[in-house]
Amino acid sequence: MLARRQYGSQKPLVTSEALQADITQENLLAGAQQLEDFAYAYEGRTRIIGSPGHNDTIYWLKDELEALDYYDVSLQNFFTVAMISGQINTFLVNGVNASGGLLEYSASGNVTAPLVVVANLGCNATDYPAAVSGNIALISRGSCEFGLKSALAGNAGAAAAIIYNNAPGGFNGTLGAPPRPEGDYVASISVSQEVGTGYVESITGGANITATIDVLTDIQNTSTYNVLATTKGGDQNNKLALGAHTDSVLAGPGINDDGSGTVGILEVAKALSKYEINNAVTFGFWAGEEEGLLGSTYYVANLPANESAQIRGYLNFDMIASPNYVHAIYDGDGSAFNISGPPGSAEIEAFFENYFTSAGQNFTATAFDGRSDYGPFLEVGIPSGGTFTGAEELKTEEEAVAFGGEAGIALDPCYHSACDNVTNLDLGTFELHGKAIAAAVATYSTSWEGFPARNTTVLRRSVVKARKTHQARHHRSRRSLPLLK
Ligand code: PHE
Ligand code: ZN
Ligand code: ZN
Repeated sequence: MLARRQYGSQKPLVTSEALQADITQENLLAGAQQLEDFAYAYEGRTRIIGSPGHNDTIYWLKDELEALDYYDVSLQNFFTVAMISGQINTFLVNGVNASGGLLEYSASGNVTAPLVVVANLGCNATDYPAAVSGNIALISRGSCEFGLKSALAGNAGAAAAIIYNNAPGGFNGTLGAPPRPEGDYVASISVSQEVGTGYVESITGGANITATIDVLTDIQNTSTYNVLATTKGGDQNNKLALGAHTDSVLAGPGINDDGSGTVGILEVAKALSKYEINNAVTFGFWAGEEEGLLGSTYYVANLPANESAQIRGYLNFDMIASPNYVHAIYDGDGSAFNISGPPGSAEIEAFFENYFTSAGQNFTATAFDGRSDYGPFLEVGIPSGGTFTGAEELKTEEEAVAFGGEAGIALDPCYHSACDNVTNLDLGTFELHGKAIAAAVATYSTSWEGFPARNTTVLRRSVVKARKTHQARHHRSRRSLPLLK
């Protein structure tokens, strides 16, 4: 009540309509442009954790939020290992330039040696023939993490590893932050399925293929921060939390992934400061999502039990402006993917279903598979939800009918790539999902009516893994319809 008198006396109580009206394409685009500018001000043109573009993002968010004089703002420091820079200096196959992708956390190395085919999918030590020793292991993508393959190649004495795709085209990926219990990584690069299977065929047909791989990476212990902003006003015992991640991958500036979520929740935080609220709201800007949900995991792990119990729900926004978008809602009730969230998650999903219905838009479900920062919240029993417009998955025919766009093309063709800049955003989608955030924040900061009480007996959910890998994610993120309009 004190808070109400102090901060609320001149401000109207927030409403969904008013808060939505405060979210404009112009402001969303300006925020996204600011993040791109931070990345492009430096040679690396990235916002990966530890990079100057990422640090500038963090300090900017802190300044923007502090200027509102409505939040208690803090930086939450944590440490991790990060690949600050990395490049393939040379990749030659039989003396000819070849194209490959650098796998994140690859070791440095410079070797010229024959390619040796690894059996099966290279997920077991026994898949690696003695002949890989001193040579370059040629491994198919699939079934286990890239990091396991690279470490097993290293254990078998390989000087480098090439992982080829198990679907058409090339790919980007991460080995996962070291150390890995199985051993040290070797220099590791990715190639397309066409190229990789071509090598395998030649070698099994009796040909010798010699490659030169010269890779240089800089992997360092890194200090980074979550930015946390909690309303000074509102009931702290019935709090709404929401979040987005501030970091990109090394390959690019990460403007859809997840500049869109970052700017989306920031714009809502700015708009909310004009109003009075009944329930407190915490905005979390997580670092190190791309290295395995590091920031959100750190936050939840260091949240005292009583504060954890005060959070009635958590909303996550990771990629909300994909160019070949779908309007997806996390499957909180498990109806589409059989992985449901704690009680309350179904209500959050229903909230967003109503939102898209009212906006006259189709929507679909996306699996609650722990692939983004809601994972650690689910693990401790906090009801969660949020929206998502798509990453590397190809648009289906059904989705093209429901949402427009192009079937057979990735929902975000610039996912984890250099081209994920402001030109990669669908601004109409950005606005629609920005307003969805506003609607949810206005609604839950006003009342939790009709929402289940928190069950604070912590249920560990075995289906959610705190650490993710690109490989595991690829297999666990299948979306399925029915479309629900
Ligand atoms: N978390 C993934 C990334 O940042 C993207 C993603 C978001 C995938 C939400 C699925 C659901 O790369
Ligand atoms: Zn990402
Ligand atoms: Zn992301």
